[in-house]
Amino acid sequence: MEKLGKTKWWSVDNDVNNLIEDDSIVEAAQLLQQNEVVAFPTETVYGLGGNAYSDEAINKIFAAKGRPTDNPLIIHIYSQEQLNEIVASVPKVAKQLIETFWPGPLTLILPKGKQVSERATAGLKTVAVRMPNHPVALAILERANIPIAAPSANRSGKPSPTTAKHVIADLNDKIAGVVDGGRTGIGVESTVVQIDGENVTILRPGGITREQIETIIGKCHVHESVLTDIHSPQSPGMKYTHYAPLAPLYVVYGNEHRLHEWIAKERAKGHRVGILTTTENVNAYKADRVLACGSRSELSTVAEQLYATLRQFDRENVDVIISESFPKEGIGVAIMNRLEKAATKMIV
Ligand code: TXA
Ligand code: MG
Repeated sequence: MEKLGKTKWWSVDNDVNNLIEDDSIVEAAQLLQQNEVVAFPTETVYGLGGNAYSDEAINKIFAAKGRPTDNPLIIHIYSQEQLNEIVASVPKVAKQLIETFWPGPLTLILPKGKQVSERATAGLKTVAVRMPNHPVALAILERANIPIAAPSANRSGKPSPTTAKHVIADLNDKIAGVVDGGRTGIGVESTVVQIDGENVTILRPGGITREQIETIIGKCHVHESVLTDIHSPQSPGMKYTHYAPLAPLYVVYGNEHRLHEWIAKERAKGHRVGILTTTENVNAYKADRVLACGSRSELSTVAEQLYATLRQFDRENVDVIISESFPKEGIGVAIMNRLEKAATKMIV
């Protein structure tokens, strides 16, 4: 264990057998039981965990993140027993999804059980719940043996953290500790689905695709807030609120030619231009900084590196970032959802 200011840092080897006996896991779990907040890796992004039954712990999460208190949290569990503790009922369609996708990046919105802190659900009658597929997260959950509320472990508005270093960059001294289990695999957050009777609606696209869900349950709806209309101006309230790098981000739909036009336009204004592209096109642009974010031929690699690349631009001294766009298929839906939320401008 190391100490960075007030925040403890434990490095954990994900491959160790019997992780729940590991000293770092034991210590992190104890802090959670004492209603402290601790960040840990999941298969999607790092989460900032706190006891889901404790108002005190939940308040600490909101304070550390600077998160508006009307935005509810996801509760993380490791067992069926814990699920039964925190939800009032589990509809048939939810059972099917759980059987197929848990542990994994799928969050279900279900009727809330009594014990869960009202602060965690922002006063709603529903609760968001998921079982993460990461050995460190599961070991901490089992060792602490309490359901753990865990939003992404970033300051509100910033890209989510995919390494423990990202967590420290945002939350050092604001949290009790961070468990470093290396870089997270999927890179974008879980898919959030609402269950209403037998109807399933995607509220946030993520690690499990609509196509995957539909193979199991047939038709699945997508909430209108996910289907951004790129031709209409964004509402001002949406700007700079999510996943945003420091420099304004322009997302360009269409071919390379459009990107070249915008690079020229920005450079003519004397702006230093950063380009977010993929390995395939990394030599195609003349700009001040060109960063490759995964490979277009394998969109999961773009998802994996997206947040780290957006964070990298904060260290690159650019005035504007111009990004390519990606096909809205499979994991591409989640990638484009995050880029559109992070964007200052979308160029059609
Ligand atoms: O992959 C993930 O889901 C990560 C890791 C750490 O598990 N967590 C995460 O949490 O992304 P957060 O707090 O950053 O996002 C939670 C999302 C928000 O969009 C929130 O509005 C929604 O889930 N949510 C939570 N409870 C809800 C509820 N009862 N009804 C509707 N939406 C809810
Ligand atoms: Mg988040």
